[in-house]
Amino acid sequence: MHVEAGEIRHVPMKITFAKPSVPKEGVIAVGILAERTLTPAAAEIDEATGGALRRALEISGKFKGERESGFVIPAPAGLDASAVLLYGLGKAEELDPVKLRRIGGDLAARLLSLDLASAGVRVDAVDGAPIEPAEMAAEVAYGLRLRAYRFDRYRTEKKDEAKPKLAKVTLLAPGHSDAKKRFQRHEAVADGVFLARDLVTTPPNDKRPEDYAKRLEKHLTDLGVEVEVFDDKKLRKLGMHSLLSVAQGSTHEARVLVMRWSGGEADTPPVALIGKGVTFDTGGLSLKPPSGMMQMKIDMGGSAAVAGTIAALAARKAAVNAVGIVGLVENMPSGQAMRPGDVIGSLSGKTIEVLNTDAEGRLVLADLLWYAEDRFKPKAMVDIATLTGAVLVSLGTRRAGLFASDDQLAQHLIAAADGEDEMLWRLPLGPEFDKALESEIADMRNVGRNGYGGSCVAAQFLKRFVREVPWAHLDIAGTVWTDSDLPVTPKGAAGFAVRTLHRLVADHYEA
Ligand code: BES
Ligand code: ZN
Ligand code: ZN
Repeated sequence: MHVEAGEIRHVPMKITFAKPSVPKEGVIAVGILAERTLTPAAAEIDEATGGALRRALEISGKFKGERESGFVIPAPAGLDASAVLLYGLGKAEELDPVKLRRIGGDLAARLLSLDLASAGVRVDAVDGAPIEPAEMAAEVAYGLRLRAYRFDRYRTEKKDEAKPKLAKVTLLAPGHSDAKKRFQRHEAVADGVFLARDLVTTPPNDKRPEDYAKRLEKHLTDLGVEVEVFDDKKLRKLGMHSLLSVAQGSTHEARVLVMRWSGGEADTPPVALIGKGVTFDTGGLSLKPPSGMMQMKIDMGGSAAVAGTIAALAARKAAVNAVGIVGLVENMPSGQAMRPGDVIGSLSGKTIEVLNTDAEGRLVLADLLWYAEDRFKPKAMVDIATLTGAVLVSLGTRRAGLFASDDQLAQHLIAAADGEDEMLWRLPLGPEFDKALESEIADMRNVGRNGYGGSCVAAQFLKRFVREVPWAHLDIAGTVWTDSDLPVTPKGAAGFAVRTLHRLVADHYEA
């Protein structure tokens, strides 16, 4: 297979907004509050159907109106629509944007499982809710959009009947034009999330560094981002020897992309986002076992998150200067590959004894961090990487590891993540981890003598390539992919951290 540069596709579901009404076809979804309490829209439909809703709620068993639950009433008399879907809102006073997005995600899964092409979702003002219906509708729509993502590019045999039919969802809410405006901003971010998901899901034979670079260049240039692509010759000239050492085992050359969105005032320094883009991680000569290698197409998830965030900022013409820098390499074993024991140089001038070629992400990031600070003198620098298996051991698959040289930046990231329902947990940097990095013959080694504190040792290694700038590092090895459906994320590539990074930039660096 070969992926056309820039090509990207996802579910062609249309989301629109209109004033409250009762649709004549498809399914109509109405909210039920905790303890089987009808919202105004539910009461309206109950009346139109001669009490079908109240009767249904008497036999709805487990469904009592809790958040992220639902109940279908097929073909009730008195309505033209084919079905009514009751969806749970829980307690009105507990509603907030994150919960509404989750409700929207749950709604998407329920609507997609019905064999209907269109849906109308009523979102009412509800007594006691600390949030306006227009904002509620926009958040529900955002959750719907994020959860309805699909990736079918490589399926040639799936029959049309097997694909979800749902093509159009209309949010029926008071203040629908305000809702639409709010949703447009969310949609720009959702497109960034989808870009990241698409890239991570793409098989490794279709995202070699050259192809991947072309695809990003096209996609981001189309959004008005200024993109520079550095090839092997340029990287050599710059002196990115650490990054190049990882690429040298592959028949595919490395690429580094610099993506600049300049929506802010000229001459104000940017915020810099830096991503690990190992398009496939075999481990190199320190070869991974088959079970550990199987999933390693995801090892460019950091670069995908950076590209997705820059795309989101550009799509909504954010008033900020932001630069994304990604290092794209394939880590392969071969006669040209670096050996355990090799001592390599780096852009910083520091030397590194590579004792494990599978600890390659830090070698890529070392040069990118040094380069970013040198060239852009950014206000802050955040790198993101599927860096260590150890972070899966310590934090599992729902929280990413956060390391920071700056407490304020760490706080801002945690707040941004909380607001986006993407969890982070801060782990320590500190001189106690430097011991592990002492080399007998070079300035440092790339791994400790045992795996203890693996994620912290890796972060401490990165810190050596950061000088003055406030810096944070996100280890997303556990969260880049999900094996089961999550509220706003279908199983597969999560697009993790696009929303958090976007919010960090919007809340703290945008004018
Ligand atoms: N890409 C891996 C980390 C990883 C592991 C990502 C599992 C996603 C899921 C990274 O390059 C790596 O192999 N790290 C080694 C470091 C070790 C050799 C010090 C690891 O975690 O085992
Ligand atoms: Zn590795
Ligand atoms: Zn890796």
